[in-house]
Amino acid sequence: MSSVSKRTFIVVVVVAALATAGVTSLLTNIFERKVEQKTTTLRVVEVGEDDTDPAKWGQNWPSQYDSYLRTATKTLTRFGGHGGSEALPDQKIERDPWLKRMFLGYAFSIDYRDRRGHAHMLEDQENTERINKPQSGSCLHCHASVMPLYRKLGDGDAMKGFEKTSTLTYQETNKQLHDLGHAHPVSCVDCHDPKTMKLRVTRPGFIQGIQRLARSDAPVSGMESILEWRLAGKKGEYEPNRDASRNELRSFVCGQCHVEYYCSTKMPLTFPWGKGLKADDIEAFWDETKFPDGSVFKDYQHQETGAAILKAQHPEFELWSQGVHARSGVSCADCHMPYMREGASKVSDHWVRSPLLNVNRACQGCHRFSEDEIKARVDLIQSRNHELLQRGGKAITELIEELTKAKADGLTAESLAPALALQRKAQWKLDFIAAENSMGFHAPQEAARLLGEAADEARQGQVAVLRARVAAPTK
Ligand code: HEC
Ligand code: HEC
Ligand code: HEC
Ligand code: HEC
Ligand code: HEC
Repeated sequence: MSSVSKRTFIVVVVVAALATAGVTSLLTNIFERKVEQKTTTLRVVEVGEDDTDPAKWGQNWPSQYDSYLRTATKTLTRFGGHGGSEALPDQKIERDPWLKRMFLGYAFSIDYRDRRGHAHMLEDQENTERINKPQSGSCLHCHASVMPLYRKLGDGDAMKGFEKTSTLTYQETNKQLHDLGHAHPVSCVDCHDPKTMKLRVTRPGFIQGIQRLARSDAPVSGMESILEWRLAGKKGEYEPNRDASRNELRSFVCGQCHVEYYCSTKMPLTFPWGKGLKADDIEAFWDETKFPDGSVFKDYQHQETGAAILKAQHPEFELWSQGVHARSGVSCADCHMPYMREGASKVSDHWVRSPLLNVNRACQGCHRFSEDEIKARVDLIQSRNHELLQRGGKAITELIEELTKAKADGLTAESLAPALALQRKAQWKLDFIAAENSMGFHAPQEAARLLGEAADEARQGQVAVLRARVAAPTK
């Protein structure tokens, strides 16, 4: 080609490309409008911020509502769902007695069961024996459609109302929820803007937590919008509903509840993300946290040893954030709410449950292996995790036994301080993976690292007890 015809050729290609891009973007636009029209205008009834009853929304969006209702169904996989009866899931603390031993001195040693579907969240909280110990109104943050109650308690300011619930008893707050007519499990309005149906987060605990995370410099894999907000100079606050992408929100909506937290009477519900989302970052955050009375943060004092213990709670969001799926932009909803066909359209399966019951839609869209092969890979990860977890359970039990004997032999808390500190550390990491509900799947290597360190710290704790005995021989 001559240089002139080459130039013409390039110009033609560029013009064609631009035209194609223009037409594509126009088509996309038209398509998006159509979809929007579908989701915003075809309404049988209007819904608003105070409509917590999902049945009302169900009139507009029957497919999503029908699958949402199915969360009442009992499910069971090797490690997921729940054993026991429809009435009452199995006790975890009976299946793994070392859990009960670790939790002595805390309500979890009385009653701690398998989780089940979203439809049960409120009744299960109302029926647990844990609420026979004093608990705060903060518990409802993750077990009910609670936003209208927050607005009422805060005279219109939900954030204020939220903070107030930590000073009220569980029973008081729960009664108000029922009286106001909002006693529903997590509902449509908790994840969707009633005007546009766009995904959004509503929970104050999450909003404060993710803002803490954004202000820090901790790595945040799979959360590009936080990096962008930081790069733009950290102005004001990071606002998930303004700044986050749709894909991020497909995980953030779950991060409103499936997280580690502090929930009791000494301060408002706290998501501990100010130093990052790794177990070690969270431990450091708690270690630096002081209660309003100036004392060092703890969830409870171990009944036998007296150690100041941190209790980990279902850190699914945090562990997921450390895995290869989060890094690759795979969201909670991709696996737990995969698309399904409904006639000509695709809808998100609102029967949130174990993806292993649904490998075809949950995994095979991305992984070209047979269903059996995918299940076998998951089972291998979970079996290894389960074995390490049991080893950790044995190690922590032996440390607790050594400490208890040493105390009975007259060793002082002071001389045992290094061993008690190691109990706190080991138990934190072990519990982080025990309380997380994927049996290691959400981030296999990270889970194995934590379990390895936990066992090591428990054994170091035993060595520290021996050292204390040598330094201060007693009877
Ligand atoms: C790549 C797919 C994938 C992603 C992404 C993912 N999960 Fe999971 N999740 C799984 C698998 C697999 C299990 C194990 C299920 C089992 O053992 O039956 C699981 C288990 C769970 C369980 C326990 C399920 C049960 O039946 O007991 C919860 C709760 C959970 N995940 C929440 C989350 C949350 C919240 C997120 C996002 C922060 C998330 N998951 C992201 C695949 C995923
Ligand atoms: C308002 C808080 C809240 C939100 C938001 C929430 N969950 Fe849950 N989730 C719970 C509670 C509480 C339970 C346990 C209910 C019980 O055991 O009674 C639960 C249970 C589950 C289970 C176990 C189901 C089973 O059949 O065993 C899975 C899986 C799960 N959630 C995933 C998710 C995913 C994925 C998201 C986001 C799309 C999400 N959750 C959003 C609070 C929440
Ligand atoms: C930050 C959100 C959050 C808060 C606050 C919260 N929960 Fe939950 N709760 C969950 C999630 C998520 C699950 C399901 C995962 C699991 O069981 O590990 C759950 C499960 C449960 C279950 C069923 C399994 C079990 O543990 O026996 C009970 C009962 C329960 N919570 C009671 C409470 C009580 C009582 C409080 C207040 C002290 C409370 N929750 C506060 C999120 C929360
Ligand atoms: C725990 C959060 C959560 C709750 C509760 C929830 N949804 Fe969704 N919903 C989602 C997610 C995630 C998507 C996927 C959105 C996306 O990818 O943009 C979705 C999508 C939708 C869509 C868009 C079309 C589709 O299916 O993808 C509609 C309509 C919808 N939900 C209706 C409802 C209704 C009605 C309820 C109550 C019965 C409800 N949702 C409850 C999280 C939730
Ligand atoms: C939206 C796409 C997507 C979905 C859905 C998805 N994955 Fe993945 N998965 C990936 C990507 C990307 C990787 C990273 C490795 C790669 O690039 O091939 C990965 C890696 C893995 C790995 C190896 C990495 C590890 O964690 O050590 C396993 C095992 C796996 N996926 C299982 C599953 C299972 C089981 C499901 C369904 C519950 C699932 N995936 C759903 C995209 C996906």
